[in-house]
Amino acid sequence: EKDIYILGIESSCDETAASVVKNGRVVLSNVISSQIDLHTLYGGVVPEIASRKHIERINQVIQEALDTAGMTLDDLDAIGVTYGPGLVGALLVGVAEAKAISYAKKLPLVGVHHIEGHISANYIENPDLEPPFVCLVVSGGHTHLVVVRDYGKYEILGRTRDDAAGEAFDKVARAIGLGYPGGPKIDKLAKEGDPEAISFPRPRFEDSPYDFSFSGLKSAVLNYLNGCQMKGIEVNRADVAASFQKAVCDVLVEHAMIAVKESGLNKFAIAGGVASNSALRAAFEKACAERHMEFYHPSPIFCTDNAAMIGSAAYYEFIAGKRDGLDLNAVPNLKL
Ligand code: KG4
Ligand code: ZN
Repeated sequence: EKDIYILGIESSCDETAASVVKNGRVVLSNVISSQIDLHTLYGGVVPEIASRKHIERINQVIQEALDTAGMTLDDLDAIGVTYGPGLVGALLVGVAEAKAISYAKKLPLVGVHHIEGHISANYIENPDLEPPFVCLVVSGGHTHLVVVRDYGKYEILGRTRDDAAGEAFDKVARAIGLGYPGGPKIDKLAKEGDPEAISFPRPRFEDSPYDFSFSGLKSAVLNYLNGCQMKGIEVNRADVAASFQKAVCDVLVEHAMIAVKESGLNKFAIAGGVASNSALRAAFEKACAERHMEFYHPSPIFCTDNAAMIGSAAYYEFIAGKRDGLDLNAVPNLKL
């Protein structure tokens, strides 16, 4: 059978990324131009700046992805692009670019859901992983517990009712003065702290064991910090980071393991930026080993936003016959 080469394009938030992926699993190039330095000044992503930077960088990023793969546009079989969810102005840059290439080179166009991309990141380094499996998607904008029934076929069991897990990491990091993006900084600082030092809440819902809530946890951290300030007690930031991180990990693991048990499946994967958290990985490693289950996770570079995951997801959509027209539009609140 003929090999299929797909150019993946991702621009939904603050990373301009392009990648050439062979047969949905083999990454020939993975170029990511991060804007984090620019947004750090403002403590978060500024949509207008993100759109402008995507425009400035996207052509170069794509060229670099092709060059690294030793290819030209003529060697491709299709273009895959994130069309939602995300920042509308940011998404539009990738979508417009993908449509232009598709039109100019008469290449099939495949619109990809960003979350489907995150989930598909697991296929890249795990050649043996095939659906069905349970996947926890934890990123800056999403916290979803999903059963991947088949390629492109998802059943959402639960989601966050307020903040996403990554958002909680970012907000708590800001509160303890670590800056943006907070996840990796909390991850690092927590290694020096005691996860049992402070008791933060582990929110659960009576009516859905799969849903999450992180805004209460964030408030509990803020209340704790205020309380220390009022009493004139010096805050041990490493203990706060470790205790907060432990609370997040506990609920994520608990809810995910209920989902795995109920689903009757024995394969579990994590995805999204927070999936690169070292404590979370260790916690799932342990939980899955205890249950004699396979645990899958992408390398950190494929956890945070990248285009290889989009190229992988696009491949499975492509072989299933999905094609988009030049009327493909960015959908900021796209549902899975
Ligand atoms: O998947 P991603 O790159 O973008 C979205 O689609 O949202 O995720 C970014 C999020 C940020 O909130 C960031 O703080 C978090 O992932 N993150 C982490 C770690 N690395 C990134 N959170 C916890 N621990 C980490 N090591
Ligand atoms: Zn993402």
